[in-house]
Amino acid sequence: MTDLFSKFDPIIEMRRGLLASGVEDPFSLVMERVLSPTVAVCNGRETILLGTYNYMGMTFDPDVIAAGKQALDDYGSGTTGSRVLNGTYAGHKAVEQALCDFYAMEHAMVFSTGYQANLGVISTVAGKGDYIVLDIDSHASIWDGCKMGDAEVVPFKHNDIEAMEKRLKRIPEGAGKLVVLEGVYSMMGDIAPLKDMIAVAKANGAMVLVDEAHSMGFIGPNGRGVAEDQGVLDQVDFVIGTFSKSVGTVGGFCVSNHPKFEILRLVCRPYVFTASLPPSVVATAATSIRKLMHAGDKRAHLWENSRTLHAGLKARGFQLGTDAPQSAIIAVIMPDLERGAAMWEALLKEGLYVNLARPPATPANMTLLRCSLCAEHSAEQVQTIIGMFERAGKAVGII
Ligand SMILES: Cc1ncc(COP(=O)(O)O)c(C=O)c1O
Repeated sequence: MTDLFSKFDPIIEMRRGLLASGVEDPFSLVMERVLSPTVAVCNGRETILLGTYNYMGMTFDPDVIAAGKQALDDYGSGTTGSRVLNGTYAGHKAVEQALCDFYAMEHAMVFSTGYQANLGVISTVAGKGDYIVLDIDSHASIWDGCKMGDAEVVPFKHNDIEAMEKRLKRIPEGAGKLVVLEGVYSMMGDIAPLKDMIAVAKANGAMVLVDEAHSMGFIGPNGRGVAEDQGVLDQVDFVIGTFSKSVGTVGGFCVSNHPKFEILRLVCRPYVFTASLPPSVVATAATSIRKLMHAGDKRAHLWENSRTLHAGLKARGFQLGTDAPQSAIIAVIMPDLERGAAMWEALLKEGLYVNLARPPATPANMTLLRCSLCAEHSAEQVQTIIGMFERAGKAVGII
């Protein structure tokens, strides 16, 4: 018998080697208690959270929590069914309406995760004989959506407009084309030049899907994302998003103005063949989304946090993923996995949690410490964080 697990030997070895150095496992940390959007107890000590996607700090919002509790009382703990059978409750329609209002769009379809939204929309919309042209640094859910469908998949170099145009021009006349982009790329925290990219996509007859998972709620005058910020949201055919970041719960969605959009509810397998979100989740999401429409002050504070952290780390000699802050994500580039893990652990001992990111999730084989800021981080917390980085960086020999 061939052991089907033998293909995992290299990663098992890499993990064993890393842990043999005595470093704590960065991929199995337990949040023992969560005290607020920015503080949890890990290993028995209070830890500042700088590695969550809780950008707008909605997880402990009193209105959001009250809505979830009420829905539990009124509708029970789960739907036990698909959206197309017994799994559409009033709350699912209400959260879809909240999304239509938030984006000022005609249609919204809620999936059980953002991962499934990308799987479903990409694999269903682009079929046999069609072409998907996508950024090489796209999220795993986008790649998996491509893999699940029958379209030809054509990647291009990250954020390279000319490379994208070249690929589009090579597609045979008359074939369907879908360009897939992200607003914010979550590993490096950089944004896409959507205005120019979408202009090129449209000039070449492509439909455009933009995943705004890491920009919703924060970027753009109304928090609709990078496409809104660059004035091209009306050119986007499909916006994909998630409830697991700024919205503060779990779930995914697609919003669109396409007149035939509603047919996706019958033909999109990751929508049809899975259970719908629990009533408490859609109630928290709807409440959170409606509050995010009026969160201008929070957005301004989060930008302030992002600028302060970026400048503070840069001034202390850390190598960062972007020259200037472009989102709520600040990526700190580590020289290698060993020192990245040592730095991660040193920060945890200081009382700071960040994400250790490594290939294949990261581009160009990089090891990153990814910092995700929250609108609920106080100015004092951000200064404390910079001090922690400085001490840990010196102790590990990175600065
Ligand atoms: C760009 C992007 N799209 C989609 C997703 C999937 O979102 P979810 O957590 O809702 O499955 C993520 C999650 O990290 C993401 O970063």
